[in-house]
Amino acid sequence: MAISGVLRPGFVQLRVLNLNAALKHYVDHIGLNKVMTGPDGRVYLKAPDEFDHHSLVLREAAEAGVDVTAFKVAKDADLDHFAARIEAWGLAVGTVAPGEQPGLGRRIGVTLTTGHRIELYAHADLADDHPEISNPEIWKAEPRGMRAQRMDHILLYGPGIGKAQRFFEECLDFALTEKVETPDGLLAIWLSCSNKAHDVAFVEHAVPNKLHHVAFQLEDWNDIGNAADLIGRYDIALDIGPTRHGITRGQTIYFFDPSGNRNEVFSGGYTYYPDNPTRGWDADHIGKAIFYYERALNERFLGVVT
Ligand SMILES: [Fe+2]
Repeated sequence: MAISGVLRPGFVQLRVLNLNAALKHYVDHIGLNKVMTGPDGRVYLKAPDEFDHHSLVLREAAEAGVDVTAFKVAKDADLDHFAARIEAWGLAVGTVAPGEQPGLGRRIGVTLTTGHRIELYAHADLADDHPEISNPEIWKAEPRGMRAQRMDHILLYGPGIGKAQRFFEECLDFALTEKVETPDGLLAIWLSCSNKAHDVAFVEHAVPNKLHHVAFQLEDWNDIGNAADLIGRYDIALDIGPTRHGITRGQTIYFFDPSGNRNEVFSGGYTYYPDNPTRGWDADHIGKAIFYYERALNERFLGVVT
């Protein structure tokens, strides 16, 4: 196995204001499958092309946002390995007992200086409704809504992203794939633990623990257009798109769930290898970096977070 250590973003737990409205959005429109409701009322969902028990957790709360972003590691011993490295690096490591979320084994976690809770886990049950393994069809059930295939990445806003960069590089072996630097300093970073152009990204922001978006992978540009049709048809709050990023080269459309959490559906993006240099953008090119077609940022995209 060439990919070892941290494999991918495993699950994100979001806060939503109304579970029924959120479920209609994530299940009917984005195309996730509901796995179960847990004993404390949290709802567990997965995308149809994922094997693990769940990848999105919804918790009803008075304020929208993100509770935790968790990454799956290759094996249980990795958790002890990473815990030792994180503590030696200077962050306190907490533990979460197996079963705190149904279908998951033990987790370790830290709170970054950006305010975000980051966790690692090694075990997830194989989903009952997993993709076919023996003579697999392209999909088991016809894809629904935007036809999300998997949860792909998350973009977080908070203070001190340079330290978050070093945490992901020095403790978890992520690589910095792209960065935006302005005369005021580091503005944004994209980090990969895999062959993807990014698995997690951060933007410098004064208020800690903010969510910019959680992104779901679609198959191709045609499906981004289909998502745009659904956003129009069902009056889903649009942010921007369909468009393309200069950074990652991903094809994209952004919109909001009924609680105001931003979502992205995303396809494409280049293949990253760990020996690739970090791509850099400066303040004069930031519009094209973020929105390659429009070549300009919009205030809502920059400023609205949950
Ligand atoms: Fe994204």
